[in-house]
Amino acid sequence: GMPGKSVRYLLRERMPEEYFELLKKAGELAEGMGFNLFLVGGIVRDMVMRVENLDIDLVVEGDGVVFAKALAGVFGAKVSPHEKYKTAVVRLSGGHRMDVATARLEYYRMPGAFPEVEESTLKLDLYRRDFTINTMAVALNPHRFGELIDYFGAQRDIREKKIRVLHSLSFVEDPSRILRAVRFEKRRGFSLGKQTLSLISSAVHAGFLRNIPGRRIFHEMRQILQEEEPIRCMERLQELKVLEAIYPDLVFDEQMREAFRAVRETLLWFRLLYTHEKIRAWFLYFLAMTESMDPQAVMALGDAFGLRREDSEILLDSREKVREIMRKMASRPEMLPSQAVEVLGKASLEEILYAMSRCRSANFKKIFSTYVTTWRNYRPPVSGRDLLAIGFSRNPDLGACLKEIRNRGLNGEIRDFAGAIAFAQAYLTGIRG
Ligand code: CTP
Repeated sequence: GMPGKSVRYLLRERMPEEYFELLKKAGELAEGMGFNLFLVGGIVRDMVMRVENLDIDLVVEGDGVVFAKALAGVFGAKVSPHEKYKTAVVRLSGGHRMDVATARLEYYRMPGAFPEVEESTLKLDLYRRDFTINTMAVALNPHRFGELIDYFGAQRDIREKKIRVLHSLSFVEDPSRILRAVRFEKRRGFSLGKQTLSLISSAVHAGFLRNIPGRRIFHEMRQILQEEEPIRCMERLQELKVLEAIYPDLVFDEQMREAFRAVRETLLWFRLLYTHEKIRAWFLYFLAMTESMDPQAVMALGDAFGLRREDSEILLDSREKVREIMRKMASRPEMLPSQAVEVLGKASLEEILYAMSRCRSANFKKIFSTYVTTWRNYRPPVSGRDLLAIGFSRNPDLGACLKEIRNRGLNGEIRDFAGAIAFAQAYLTGIRG
């Protein structure tokens, strides 16, 4: 076919230097092995839209596993092959990872649906994907490095901001794409194509969501809750009757929306301060989703999502922990830092942030925020090892003494090493004497 336009400049501009070099080397390696190599999927979509994305997905026309092993060899990386599906994950030392898939060779033998034999395997691989915007590829072999391949009008749909399926059986083949459609729609002001919208309605109406394991739905729901704007996704899922199809009592009502808004606000605050700290945002939203359900309903929702009993119970435990925190805080209007840490210290960051989103009082919000920004990382000025090194003897009171130093340190009564030692001296001899 006609060569596509070059996006070599985009590769250069949108990627860190080391990724660019890596992709070039990978292309050269593939060439030497007689394979065609392509960068595909979300990363190409995001590159064209000038959105950051460093999840490298590669497709090999040839043998993806053989290629991945060779690639790992060249870069001294770890490779986890999946022989059955002819896929592999290559993990580089810097923490980068690349997913390698095979455009299967048997497609060569399929009856001539696509006359361009040279590109037919890649084309078929891309044709099986969810939406047009995800079907672009960039050639990586040296003689066509950077060539953009767009068989299905992805660039047009990105310009028009449309989510469109490639064919009318897309949601029949994979009903979880209904949730994916909503997730992509609510990013950056896209909308569903008319035909795609009507295919979704039919699929939901026909009950196709019941044809896939709940776990798959949960996986997609979790990704939605991990997005920037889960509220708009939930509204859309409700409108499309997807929520009730998942679980009859799952209704995005005013109360749930309010809980979501509070979570969103808390997350914005947190992310502003801790841009690099990973947080399971979905878990906070999941707590918000189940906030007003009784425990049986939570377990039933867990079933609908294909969760194991233990996992649903973890959710219920978290909920209980959060409620306990709220009760304890409410019972003590004034709290020393050490008392706050006593109450919050055993909760996960997600539980703390969720509790923070639930609380109305500015006074308590302040306690939560100070815990997150300061107290949770507090290190007392001396450790047990320090005390032993100085000559305190190993005895049962040492632990209690350290705890007291930590508490007083949190409360500002002990400020430095000397103060801590003086305290330890007095405390331990006091107990002895
Ligand atoms: N895909 C699909 N059907 C699915 C799941 C995934 O066709 N049910 C395809 C999509 O075309 C997607 C690719 O597999 O581009 C990789 O999937 P995933 O990593 O989930 O999505 P990304 O497009 O990378 O999206 P994100 O921005 O969320 O990473």
